[in-house]
Amino acid sequence: MKLRTKIQIFLTMFLVIVILIINSAVYLLYENRVSENELNRVHNDVENIMEAIARNKTANIENDRLLQALLPADSMIRIIDEQGEMIDEKAKETSFLDWPSHYTKTEEQRLATGADGVPYAQIAVPLIWTDGSIVTLQVSEALYAMEDGLSILRIVLYLSAGLMLIPALIAGYYLARLVTKPVQSLTTEMKQNPHHGKWEKLTLHQKNNDEISQMQQAYNAMIERINENIENQDRFVSDASHELRTPLSVITSYTELLQRRGKDKPEIFDEATGAILSEAERMKHLTEQMLLLAKNQGQESIYMTPINISEMTREVVRSLSTAYQREMKFSQHTTNDITISADRPKIQQAVYIVMDNACKYSDEEVLVLLKETDDHIYLSITDQGEGLAEEEQKQIFERFYRVDKARSRQAGGTGLGLAICHQIVQLHGGNIRLDSQPGNGSTFTIELPK
Ligand SMILES: Nc1ncnc2c1ncn2[C@@H]1O[C@H](COP(=O)(O)OP(=O)(O)OP(=O)(O)O)[C@@H](O)[C@H]1O
Ligand SMILES: [Mg+2]
Repeated sequence: MKLRTKIQIFLTMFLVIVILIINSAVYLLYENRVSENELNRVHNDVENIMEAIARNKTANIENDRLLQALLPADSMIRIIDEQGEMIDEKAKETSFLDWPSHYTKTEEQRLATGADGVPYAQIAVPLIWTDGSIVTLQVSEALYAMEDGLSILRIVLYLSAGLMLIPALIAGYYLARLVTKPVQSLTTEMKQNPHHGKWEKLTLHQKNNDEISQMQQAYNAMIERINENIENQDRFVSDASHELRTPLSVITSYTELLQRRGKDKPEIFDEATGAILSEAERMKHLTEQMLLLAKNQGQESIYMTPINISEMTREVVRSLSTAYQREMKFSQHTTNDITISADRPKIQQAVYIVMDNACKYSDEEVLVLLKETDDHIYLSITDQGEGLAEEEQKQIFERFYRVDKARSRQAGGTGLGLAICHQIVQLHGGNIRLDSQPGNGSTFTIELPK
């Protein structure tokens, strides 16, 4: 069901219920008040009749004629003896004689409707009759005026309910339109996106900060992120294919060379196979790195356990200094080993990447320092290499970025190492900083929450 229909139905139902409650209350209050008045009126008549009967003890008018004279308009008088027998009975209309009667020693009053549908008020009181016995005087009066009044009120209330519903329905229609129109136009605009294959932001029509414009802003923020992601992906794919093109063209040209002259000149063989193998190794390394970047996305890719970061760093230092045959010094501020909660293989890799760079891009001693505070650890790797200019520092964590492409390539670099390291550290809620000056070496600091 459409939102618009829902709003309209809700409003109409709500108003119908409100009108019904108000009208019923008005009707019941009026009915109550009028019946009370009617009963009072009949009561007065009863008192008058009783007085007249009492006075008649001296005047001595015949009972039957007296009752006839006392009979009020649209009413009936009955005198009932102790056995329930009718002593006398006078009615303005014969149909009134069907109304029930009984003997009572206490005063009784009631409102009822006769079999003919005529409402009546009935009051019965005990009375000392002319022969000294106690009888019941019952006076009943048809409530024609009250019935007329009530039926007019019913008509007025029905009409007013109908009249009130018409503007309410129109208001509901316009209210529903007011609410749903901007939503509808927003939906249409959203449906038309992307234009010509490109996701576009919506133009903000509303100047105020209502829910619709908040929705537009949220949508625009989403489009911005989608576009950023698409751009990132495009750049990644083009960078990756660019990176793969170089080893592939080296392999192709060496293979062609082998095909053309390999048989005549066996001395080319070693050079060609060596180059093909090294490029294949490079491609393998590159694809592994790319796969890692893809896998490391999202918090769910890390598995936290308590790890001894001191011991782990020492291990990496040991293996790298052996591999590169380099002087590396590890020191830490505390005497005890430091333990943190992290994904061991991933953190080890991040540390490895930074230390590997320090070894690759410098020739002097590499210093590794581990510090801790109450809630963080700081691992600094300092080299005395060429250092990095401010412009380069800004881009260093981007994928495929290499300062000196030729040198990095020679060293087997893909430009993905620091991007992977940055991603891992961020997944752990940490940070990586670089302090460097051209010609003065660099210090990479990995900050991790404990
Ligand atoms: N300690 C450093 N001193 C000077 N330059 C550095 C240092 N570390 C990194 N760089 C520069 O930053 C670039 C990016 O480093 P990154 O580790 O991301 O890639 P790579 O070392 O080229 O390749 P990979 O690490 O994937 O094998 C390097 O190519 C290098 O030019
Ligand atoms: Mg590297």
